Amino acid sequence: MSPVIVRTVDELRKKVRGLRDHGRTIGFVPTMGALHEGHLSLVRAAKADGHATIVSIFVNPTQFNDPKDLEKYPRNEAADVALLAPLDVAIVFAPTVDQMYVDGFSTKVSVTGISEVLCGATRPGHFDGVATIVSKLLLQALPDAAYFGQKDYQQLAVIDRVVADLNIPTEIVGCPILREVDGLAMSSRNVRLSSAGRQAAPVLLTTLKDAATKIAGGADISTTIDEAQKTILGAGFSNIDYLELRANADLAKLSRFDRPARLFVAAFLDGVRLIDNLEIGDA
Ligand code: PAJ
Repeated sequence: MSPVIVRTVDELRKKVRGLRDHGRTIGFVPTMGALHEGHLSLVRAAKADGHATIVSIFVNPTQFNDPKDLEKYPRNEAADVALLAPLDVAIVFAPTVDQMYVDGFSTKVSVTGISEVLCGATRPGHFDGVATIVSKLLLQALPDAAYFGQKDYQQLAVIDRVVADLNIPTEIVGCPILREVDGLAMSSRNVRLSSAGRQAAPVLLTTLKDAATKIAGGADISTTIDEAQKTILGAGFSNIDYLELRANADLAKLSRFDRPARLFVAAFLDGVRLIDNLEIGDA
């Protein structure tokens, strides 16, 4: 059944009340649309937990530090709704920018520390935009649980922090990364790769796997990372924003593998910024 499409916060609250009156719990999946199997896996996780599921589709302008990236971000609501229809989603919340950022909007949710490294270091303001919009969405829908992908592991860590710090009564559920058969992490940005770029892109994961295996076996971290960077650049990536080993728990940068950790990478291919991460031990 096609989901109900809701455009305003008032209407969203009314519909959520209706679902709760019928004894349903609420699972929420925030997205920026251009949906793919990675997004759908979050919807399936919410459904598997027994929730009536809300998917938001909102390309949030405040999290784009590059106006060209915002402009080029793929948008196709009709295709998104068609993908969601077979999954029995209760509500698609697709508000306008004016609805989310009313005249005079002046509030910002900003997480210090973990927001300032990795993607935060090269995308100033990005995580403020994410933390602000996710806080708003959670306060608007007040779901029992909200589902986020580990593809954006740092984003998940930031949201965990926001929800704990602001006492937002929603359980945050982290879900595994969905990949194409060749290992490339699914992303709405992948459609912008040229066909040569698309062929080269899986080197990101194969290189992370190789480096993770070496690190798990006791290899020197900085030598391993240097080699991995050379491999990625050699495969056609134009530059690497970061390739680092960081602790799962607090994203502290590690020069020794002495606690649960993962490799994080962000690199440009065909002018498209791709990110991925891999837990040491998962290679
Ligand atoms: P978006 O990039 O559309 O992603 C929405 C959700 O889908 C995020 O939780 C993201 O981690 C997850 N996701 C994307 N690709 C995935 C994959 N290959 N496997 C598993 N999960 C995947 O992330 C955002 O939107 C925005 O920042 C948002 C949280 C909606 C705030 O605007």
